[in-house]
Amino acid sequence: MLEDRMISGEQQDTDQEIELSLRPETLKQYIGQDQVKNNLSIFIEAAKMRNEPLDHALLYGPPGLGKTTLASIIANEMGVQFRTTAGPAIERAGDLAAILSSLEPGDVLFIDEIHRLPRSVEEVLYPAMEDFCLDIVVGTGPSARSVRLDLPPFTLVGATTRAGLLSAPLRDRFGVHSRLEYYDTKALCAIVERTAEILSVEIDAAAAVEVARRSRGTPRIANRLLKRVRDIAQVKGETVISKETTQEALEMLQVDAEGLDFIDHKLLKGIMDSFQGGPVGLDTIAATIGEEPQTIEDVYEPFLLQIGYIQRTPRGRVVTPKAYAHFNREVPGS
Ligand SMILES: Nc1ncnc2c1ncn2[C@@H]1O[C@H](COP(=O)(O)OP(=O)(O)OP(=O)(O)O)[C@@H](O)[C@H]1O
Ligand SMILES: [Mg+2]
Repeated sequence: MLEDRMISGEQQDTDQEIELSLRPETLKQYIGQDQVKNNLSIFIEAAKMRNEPLDHALLYGPPGLGKTTLASIIANEMGVQFRTTAGPAIERAGDLAAILSSLEPGDVLFIDEIHRLPRSVEEVLYPAMEDFCLDIVVGTGPSARSVRLDLPPFTLVGATTRAGLLSAPLRDRFGVHSRLEYYDTKALCAIVERTAEILSVEIDAAAAVEVARRSRGTPRIANRLLKRVRDIAQVKGETVISKETTQEALEMLQVDAEGLDFIDHKLLKGIMDSFQGGPVGLDTIAATIGEEPQTIEDVYEPFLLQIGYIQRTPRGRVVTPKAYAHFNREVPGS
């Protein structure tokens, strides 16, 4: 037992180490997202010329597209420290005040899942972002008074999968808004090739395209699939990962030709089988297939919307004829 646990603990360590080593460190190494990158590089250069911190930046987009990675690149390019926390980790205004007052001038403070900051904490953030100061209430009762503390100038980088859930006053205080998009096959292919090089494995060009095409436009998924494909190639004793092995591996992983996985299938088939293709409300479909509504909305739905397999209507989700065609099915009533 203990030994098992130790082995899996080590395994986890190496997985995390690999994960970190895959993270690009400069804008130049960050593949794709050209518009976001071009804008940021100009803003960073200008801020450096003025010897000022970069304006606060909000990064948003679906999971695994590189928001955390980009935030750490911003700190690196600015030549400052990268301090990280997350919305749910900051429960009280005092927690945030402590973090803010420990920053060094110019630091990047990264708040992941910033849409989950409690409202009372958000209010501390407003003067901090705008005027680099903290308003603290000292004492209680009639003798209570508000004291203003200066903070070092800093850059707040916020990340969220749900920009729509951010309050307007918070959103407006970010000078830079960068929306990350799903990656095209060419960019993902470059990411797969870069990752293969870091992992010291050789992959055939056609095999790299295959992994890229089936990664739902998402670097995190591309890297994960590549690691599993590598395992299977290794067991087969293949020195250069071939397209055939890649296809075999992806089938084993239940990833289809469009990159849809088991849960995508469950979601689409659930709507087709139980609701004649919809419209059906999010909560109803979530209960039917046994997934969390939020996971469906944040993780699965954005890609299915992007490739036009589902549509959102005022009455709920609808599966499109394109999705029916993917499953070789007739659209009901056609
Ligand atoms: N543009 C890129 N070029 C190369 N690799 C990338 C790029 N973007 C992301 N990656 C890789 O994908 C992985 C996932 O990226 P990251 O953790 O930054 O995503 P995220 O948007 O923060 O996801 P989440 O919303 O789940 O927090 C990283 O480990 C990194 O190796
Ligand atoms: Mg992240």
